[in-house]
Amino acid sequence: MQKKKIIIGNWKMNPESGKLAETLYKNIIKSKFSSKLDVVICPPFVYLEKLKKILKKIPLGVQNISHKDKGAFTGEVSGNMVYDLGARYVILGHSERRAMGEEDEVINQKIKIALASGLNPILCVGEKNRDDNHDYFNVIKNQIEKDFNGVNKNSISNAIVAYEPVWAIGKDAVREATPEEFREVAVFIKKILSDKFGANTVKNIRIIYGGSVNTKNAQDFVVAGEADGFLVGRDSLDAKKFIKIIEITEKVN
Ligand code: PGA
Repeated sequence: MQKKKIIIGNWKMNPESGKLAETLYKNIIKSKFSSKLDVVICPPFVYLEKLKKILKKIPLGVQNISHKDKGAFTGEVSGNMVYDLGARYVILGHSERRAMGEEDEVINQKIKIALASGLNPILCVGEKNRDDNHDYFNVIKNQIEKDFNGVNKNSISNAIVAYEPVWAIGKDAVREATPEEFREVAVFIKKILSDKFGANTVKNIRIIYGGSVNTKNAQDFVVAGEADGFLVGRDSLDAKKFIKIIEITEKVN
């Protein structure tokens, strides 16, 4: 069976008010998504409840959860809390959080908490820069092995892995990755996962691309790159562009 592709919008710390979040969401859901694709919106926590009330059928995700399930952790929000509000996905290990000091040990705890709470973790991995020694393979292998350490084989198929080379993310990106670069890393990721969890268990895990995804490069990533979908930052804040990326992916499905 072919894996369903997935398009995830990572709104990051945007937009600036509940009203704007509502407008953006309403503009996105104007499009009639086919059931051939999964579309997930990951807004800031505080907008979850509001957006869930507008339309239940688009799954929502969050961009972080606590590494603990409850207790004296000031400022933290637990996996169970966001599940209760309707979230079903969580982005973990994003490079912007790694840059704030989040380490693999904590990401690993968060992945376990996510799975125990019924959330599908979207694990982001990727190197900061590329060098001629191909050291990025080691960086990615290390991240995957540490972040999925001790994760139950039975629950791993609920995870999604996003290859997001740090140099390709955001407005300061050096450049976007090429579909070939993505495909090479995706094959590598599948091999690591297969060695760890068995080929049969991982065949349904989606490996998606993130980093300056736009309406111009989406098709190539799906066709030549064989991406199982996208994690979209900037262009998920523009309803028209986001819908276009969804439509492009749908067509080549
Ligand atoms: P970008 O962000 O699409 O704006 O490069 C992607 C991400 O950080 O997930």
